[in-house]
Amino acid sequence: MIALASDHVGLTLKKTIMELLEEKGLTYRDFGTYSQERCDYPVYGSAAAKAVAEGTCERGIVICGTGVGISLSANKIHGIRCVVCSEPYSAKLSRLHNNTNMLALGSRVAGEDLARMIVETWLETPFEGGRHQRRVEQLAILEEKQTLGEE
Ligand code: RB5
Repeated sequence: MIALASDHVGLTLKKTIMELLEEKGLTYRDFGTYSQERCDYPVYGSAAAKAVAEGTCERGIVICGTGVGISLSANKIHGIRCVVCSEPYSAKLSRLHNNTNMLALGSRVAGEDLARMIVETWLETPFEGGRHQRRVEQLAILEEKQTLGEE
């Protein structure tokens, strides 16, 4: 199950991503927003992120105008590693090296086709583990303790 969310600016692109997920036979849950009425991205980004952090959804995709605000919102939730991407290379490496569990897109940045390409790449790429595992674990330590205790 993929958690989806957007603000009003990301709504149209979110519908495109829903179509893509349906084409791929993947299930999703939409945490809003559901209309073009102006709204606040932290409300929706955090709702999708909580579902991922709690394990109700395996991964999440969130969308606002730039992808920045909604990615920051998602990253405030413990256990979330959300990457904002405007090209597939970072999407791919964010899975291979950082084990990102959420992807943020900017509807004012990436067009429909590019956004689809980014999502497909991000969904299909596994975490490489190995030497990257320790670094991802260090992120969790930083989240918990604000320090790695090495300084
Ligand atoms: C909304 O105007 C806009 O600020 C929002 O969609 C997003 O781009 C914020 O980061």
